[in-house]
Order: sequence, then C-alpha cells, then structure tokens
Amino acid sequence: MKSLLSAFVATIALIGSANGMTVTKGNGDDWLKKSTKTAVIQLTRAAQTYTPGMNPRSVNPDGTVRLAPPRDWTTGFFPGTLWYGYELSGDKNLAAEAKRFTLALDTIQYVKDTHDLGFMLYCSYGNAYRVTGDKIYLKPLENGAANLYARFNKKVGAIRSWDFGHWQFPVIIDNLMNLEYLYWAGKEFNKPEWFDAAKTHAVTTMKNHFRKDYSSYHVISYDTLSGKVLQRETHQGLTNESAWARGQAWGLYGYTMSYKDTKDKKFIEHAEHIAAFIMNHPAMPADKIPLWDFDVHNRDRSPRDASAAAVIASALLDLSTQVKDGQKYFKFAEDILKTLSSDEYLAKPGENQFFILKHSVGALLYNSEIDTPLNYADYYYLEALKRYAEIKKIDLKTINQS
Ligand code: GLY
Repeated sequence: MKSLLSAFVATIALIGSANGMTVTKGNGDDWLKKSTKTAVIQLTRAAQTYTPGMNPRSVNPDGTVRLAPPRDWTTGFFPGTLWYGYELSGDKNLAAEAKRFTLALDTIQYVKDTHDLGFMLYCSYGNAYRVTGDKIYLKPLENGAANLYARFNKKVGAIRSWDFGHWQFPVIIDNLMNLEYLYWAGKEFNKPEWFDAAKTHAVTTMKNHFRKDYSSYHVISYDTLSGKVLQRETHQGLTNESAWARGQAWGLYGYTMSYKDTKDKKFIEHAEHIAAFIMNHPAMPADKIPLWDFDVHNRDRSPRDASAAAVIASALLDLSTQVKDGQKYFKFAEDILKTLSSDEYLAKPGENQFFILKHSVGALLYNSEIDTPLNYADYYYLEALKRYAEIKKIDLKTINQS
C-alpha cells in the first residue's frame, strides 16, 4: 500500500507549480494523506451521529458535544467542512451528507440581526453552489446577501456587526470574513451596490481597525451621525490593545480575499503587512500554532488556538498564489499544516466527538470553549489542505484510494 502511494506521489511530483514552487518528491506528503483520511472518517461518523439543523460546534468541558441550532454564528461550518471533505476525497456519501446538512439551514436566509451571514450562508450554501452548480442553493444566498447589505451604513462606510452590547455601531475585525460573500453575490445577482459596499467596508476597516504595526483592534464603534470612531475595544482578546490571535487571522484572510475579488493593490499590500506581523511576531511558537492572544504573558499555561492557525494557513496559501515571491507564505502555511496534522492536534479516528482538530480557543475571558475542538478550526483546516493540494497539484482523490 505504502509503496503504491510512494510511486504515485513520485510520478505526480512536478518540477514546479503554477507559482514557481518546488514540489516535494517521493512520499514527503504522507501527512497529507493521513490527515485527509482522518478527516473523511471523522466527517462520516459525525454526519451519521448528529442531526441536520443541530450541528456540532465544539466539545464541552465534561467531554460531551456542544451542538448549535441554525441561528448560531458557526452553523455553516459543519456543512462547509462536509463539502470540502467531499472535494478532497471524492467520497459521494460526504456529498450527500453535505447536501442534507446544508438544506437543514433553510431558515438562516431570513436572519437580519447579525453580520455573520457570510460564515452562516456562504460556507454552507455558498460551497454547495460552488461545488454542484445546483440552482436550488441560489435563492437562500440571494436573500442572505440582501440582509447583509441592509446592515451597511453609508455614513460610516461599514456593515454593522452586532445588535447587542454597549456600542452605537460596532464593527468587528471578523466582519471582513463576510465580504467574500458580498463581492460574489454582487456579481452573481447583478447588484453592484453590494459589491461596492463590501469594498467600502474593507477600506474603512483598513483605516480604523489597524495599529501602526498592522495588528488590529477587535471592536470599533462608530458614530452614525458623523461616521467618526467612538471606541476601540476588544470583546474576545486579552485587552483592548492586545493582538487577539484569531482577529489577526481574520484580518489576513479578509484582505487577501478583498484583493482577489477587487484586484485593488492596496488590499494585497495590507495583507502582506498583516502576514509580516503574524509571521515575525516574537511570541509565535516554533511550531507556528499561536497562543490565543499574541500578548498573553503566562506563555507556559496559556492555550494555543488551532483555529487561528488554520485560518492563517488557508489565507497564506491563497496569498502565496497572488504575489510574485509567495514561497515564504507557502512555507509558513505548510509548517502550520504539518503541525496541525501531527498527533498533538489531529484527532485519532473515532475520538474527539468526531471533530478533526483538537486545541482551539473560542472566548477565553468568558471561560467559553477553551482548549477544545471548534467546527471552524476544522473548516479552515480542510480548506487549507485543499488549497495546498491544488498548489502542489496533488490529486488527493487518487491518493486516498490507495
Ligand atoms: N467570529 C467570532 C470568533 O471569531 O470567535
């Protein structure tokens, strides 16, 4: 079996890929085979175990699974991970499960009180449409995008994130992750104002969310009469001035995608600055899985955040294909993926409540989801594996049959 795989990988080992990268020869990508096989087993078991509409979100401190209803901000990740699992493996059962878990989220197209519609709808219905081309997925995507656009305020130049809290008009760095949905929907449904709103949001966020070192604040609240910044705070980071790890990851991903969709050079320059902040940070551990906040001081006891690492890996792989000297981004992402694919982070098949990765952090200061699996860590990990395989021109479907 193993020699067959080696022979296969050796024969597909290429001189270089589209962006000039050296491709590993021989069986140097065994970790990739192991991780995708684990993912397929975990996703298959999860889909058999859980009920569509109550999707696995994380693991509670007592070891039981935390399930989330459709309205939860993480609801789109499990169906999205199933779609990626299908693409990576070619396993038709996963495609059927992905469809079943996607269509169970029918009600989320009517949600109006959050910005999280990109996570909720684009990761589920968006992937469903991208993979299958089936038009049954389009109407929910159109309705959701209209609801997202309705949260755009022209005076502020941004989409409102939350309807709760003490802020007048809160915009969080995570909101950049909704822009890919709005850029796509603007083009798909011929609504240029949706596309323009997404671009304006990216410009406003670039101006107000970032510090001189290109780290970002989590929450900015705006005055809706003047459009001016009222507060710069955090909701999930260590302090208002700290660099919450996942927030930095969302920023990197958001500007990489904004460049891809608009081709506006200032976005790719900004993404590269954020990448430099993350990659060169003195608190980045040698294995490249960040602590939950770059500014925590008790480094020995503070948990790592695999979800931030997975988002960073996926974003860097995409960034690596969009700049001339992308090798450094590719290499950093590869290092992250190898660590996440080690026994320390990758679940043993059948364990971990059928999540793929261990050791993420949701909201540490709220004592919520600390050192646990998270469905979005799994989602961005599989997305990154898919991007990695595409860049290296590795056909995982064939590999996984060996
Ligand atoms: N968007 C919420 C989080 O990153 O935890």
